[in-house]
Amino acid sequence: MKNALNKEIKDIIQDYPEVGRILEEYGIGCSPCSVGSCLLKDIVGIHNLDPQQEAILMYRIEKAIYPDRDVPEPKVDLTKKQAPKQISYSPPVKKLVDEHGLIKRLLALIPHIVEYIENSVNVDKELVLQCVDFIRAYADKYHHMKEEDILFKYVDNNAEIIQIMYKDHDTGRNHVRQVIEGAEKGNKAQIREHLLAYRELLMQHIKKEDEILYPWIDRQLSVTQVGEMFKQCTEADASVGDELPKKYERFIIELEEKFLQEVA
Ligand SMILES: [Fe+2]
Ligand SMILES: [Fe+2]
Repeated sequence: MKNALNKEIKDIIQDYPEVGRILEEYGIGCSPCSVGSCLLKDIVGIHNLDPQQEAILMYRIEKAIYPDRDVPEPKVDLTKKQAPKQISYSPPVKKLVDEHGLIKRLLALIPHIVEYIENSVNVDKELVLQCVDFIRAYADKYHHMKEEDILFKYVDNNAEIIQIMYKDHDTGRNHVRQVIEGAEKGNKAQIREHLLAYRELLMQHIKKEDEILYPWIDRQLSVTQVGEMFKQCTEADASVGDELPKKYERFIIELEEKFLQEVA
C-alpha cells in the first residue's frame, strides 16, 4: 500500500478504475481531474476526511488494488454519529470566502441575463460589458489577484490543486474575452455559450476553494503567517479603496432588482 500511496493518482485510476469510483463517492473527483499528477497520499491529505472515513476509504482502495490480499477491515463504530463538518477559516481566508458570496450572486443571475439577451431584438451591449467589468475588476483583479499574489504563495505552487486553480482563472479570462467579442459582434450565441461556461467553471472553482483548497491552506499556516497574510490582504484592499467593493455590490443589487423581481 505504501507503494500505491506514492503513485500518481492518474496511473492508479488507469490501472484500477474502481479506485476512481470509490474516490468520487467521497466527493474526491480525481477521475475527471485535468492534471492528475498528485499522489494518492496527497489527495487523501488535501481532503481532510475524518479518521473513521479515511480508514474505510484506505481499506476500500487497498482491496480494489490488491483484491487477493488479506487486508484487515478497519474497526469503526457505526453507532457513533458524525457531526456535520464545520469549516472554520482564518480571518484573511474568511474574507476571500465572503467575496465568493458576491461573485456567486452574479453567477446566479447569469441564466436570467442570458435569457433576457436571447429575447431582445438587439443585444444589450452595455449590460454585457457591465457584467464583464464586474468579472474583470471584482472577481478577477480584486479577488483572484489576492489568491494568486498572496494566498497561493504560502503553499507549494507546484501542488496540483494550485495548478488547477491557476488554470481555472485563465480559462475564466478566456471565456470573458469571448463574451466581449460576442458583445462587439452582437453574437447572442457566443455570449450565451461563454457566459454559461464561465458560470459553470466558477461555481465548481469556488466550491473547490471553499471546501478543499482554503481549508487545506489554512491547516498549513502558522499563527504568524495568518497575521502576515491578513496584513497583506488588508493592504491590497486598501490600495483599491473601500469604494470598489461597495460599487460592485450596488451593481449586483441593481441586477437582482431587475432580473429576480421580474421572475418573482
Ligand atoms: Fe480562485
Ligand atoms: Fe476564489
